Order: sequence, then C-alpha cells, then structure tokens
Amino acid sequence: MGPGDLDQALCGLQLVSHPNLLVGIEHPDDAGVYKVSDDLALVQTVDFFTPIVDDPYTFGRIAAANALSDIYAMGAIPITAMNLVAFPIQSMGIEILREILRGGLDTMREAEVVLIGGHSIEDNELKYGLAVTGLVHPDSFLTNTGAQIGDRIILTKPLGTGIINTAQKGGLAAPEAVQGAADVMTVLNRKAAEVMRGFHVHACTDVTGFGLLGHLSEMLGEGEIGIKVFVDAVPILPGTEEYAGMGLVPGGTHRNREFYAPKVQGGKGFSPALLDILYDSQTSGGLLIATTKKDADGILRFLQEVGVEDACIIAEVVAKPKGKIVLA
Ligand code: CO
Ligand code: CO
Ligand code: CO
Repeated sequence: MGPGDLDQALCGLQLVSHPNLLVGIEHPDDAGVYKVSDDLALVQTVDFFTPIVDDPYTFGRIAAANALSDIYAMGAIPITAMNLVAFPIQSMGIEILREILRGGLDTMREAEVVLIGGHSIEDNELKYGLAVTGLVHPDSFLTNTGAQIGDRIILTKPLGTGIINTAQKGGLAAPEAVQGAADVMTVLNRKAAEVMRGFHVHACTDVTGFGLLGHLSEMLGEGEIGIKVFVDAVPILPGTEEYAGMGLVPGGTHRNREFYAPKVQGGKGFSPALLDILYDSQTSGGLLIATTKKDADGILRFLQEVGVEDACIIAEVVAKPKGKIVLA
C-alpha cells in the first residue's frame, strides 16, 4: 500500500484512546508507545513483506533488520520479537522456510532480541517479518516530528535498495550492485541508535517505504518548519543512478512521488533519475536523525568510529518555506 492509503481506510473509524497511549495511530510514527509505569513504556511495531532478494537466509536477515529498525528509530531498545510467516507449503520446500527463519534468528541474536513466538499461515505468496516489542523511558522516546530550525539531519545508510531490487527482478542488475544493496539492508540500525542516545536529538525516523522525501515530509509535522536537502550530499548505492536512468523504478516509488511532490520544491534542477532515487521506496533503510548543528558533528564522528561509514548530513531544518522541502 502507498502513502495515504491507510489514513483513507481509517477515516471515520472511532479509534480507542487511552491516557497511557503516548504515540498512537492518529499520528503515524515508526512504532506505537504505551506507558506502563512512570519510568517504563512499551514500544511496539510489526512489519512483513514478500521476498526482495533470491537467497532465503539473506531475506530472513533483511526482514528482521527492517522490523527492528522501527524500534531503534523511536530511540528505544528492542527486547522481544515474534515471527510472522505466510508460506506456500504445497509448492515450496520447507528447507526454504528454515533458511528464512535462520536468517531472522541470526539478526535477532545480533540485536540481543529474544524470539518468543509467532504465527504462520499457508499462503500462495511467501511473506516474512516480525512483530517487535521494545522498551523506553516514557520521557525519552523520539518521534518523527520535533526537529527545530537550525537542526542538521543525518542519514545513516545510502539510498537505492528499491531501484536495485527492481533491476535485479528484471535481470539487469550487476551482482556487485545486488550485493551492495543486500549488505546495506542486512545491517541493523542498532549502532546508529546507540550513538544517537548519547547526544541531544530532537527527532528521528527511518527511511523505508515512503522514500527519503516521503519520510522527510513526515518530519515536517504540522508544517512549522521547512527542510532544505543538500542533494549532492545524499549517499547513494553504486549502480542506482544507472538503473533509475533505465526506468527500473518500483511502482511504490512512483506513488511516493505523486503523493509527496506537492511538498517538494526545487526539483527542476535535478535529473529525473536522481529525483526517483530521492523518492525511492527503501527496505531496511537508514535512520534520519535531526540534531543541533553542534551535536551533528559529534554524532558523525562517533558513527564513523563504530563503522556507520555512509552517514552524512543531508539536510538542514529551515524557517522558510514552512511546510516544504527544498532541494538544493
Ligand atoms: Co519506520
Ligand atoms: Co514499519
Ligand atoms: Co534542543
């Protein structure tokens, strides 16, 4: 489903409110937050999808890293997870499912997250993902809004996974490009989240289905700020521009462009391929961290030290134009 679809489906429905619900579905964020006591809140998220790489083990790792990412984006620590499996048992060997689950488990182990259950159904189309629970102090979680004028926005992973996956499905991607995308998608956002915890951060989210410009649009909140993107600074996976230039762009990326373009200015100066990359629907993308100018340098230095080498300052929060993203 594309941006706006779920809002449309929920429109007119009576949502359940509760005094302990700190982040709910009426302000879409990476995960929901529910306060259980004065010093503890639950952070919950779920994500699953069809395979985006050929190797089942790698797919399992990517799906787990992607699901865990929403907990990291809230500034929380993931503790438990449950498997979600849809599997065509009539037409596919069970050893494929075992490899997917092994990949998921290895990534959960790396995240120090405990698998506590799950549910599987038979389905014509394979799908895998996780429901994840994390913990955070009720006063210290991060949402996707709250960035302040003058803040710098750091992106911790390069863009291009949607376009490279599309090129791969068309049999047109170079093996190095496919490997590069898989390497990026299997990396946990754990280290980036740990670095972030030591600094003054105003807002955070992760880049997934809505693409960089879609998720930056969410960071605009009610529109009291603007965001200026330094397009040349945006890290991009090798091969992405070439495939985008060949029109190998996923359908979700086109929908992102249609939905978010009214909020984006200055696109005329850039090639259509580059714009497609900025709107490209990502899987297990990096964190977007809004922090003060001073802390941005410290965060970048620490990120380099822990091996998050692609991290860059890609945008600045500006006073004008309000509620818009300007490509510069
Ligand atoms: Co997210
Ligand atoms: Co999600
Ligand atoms: Co502040």
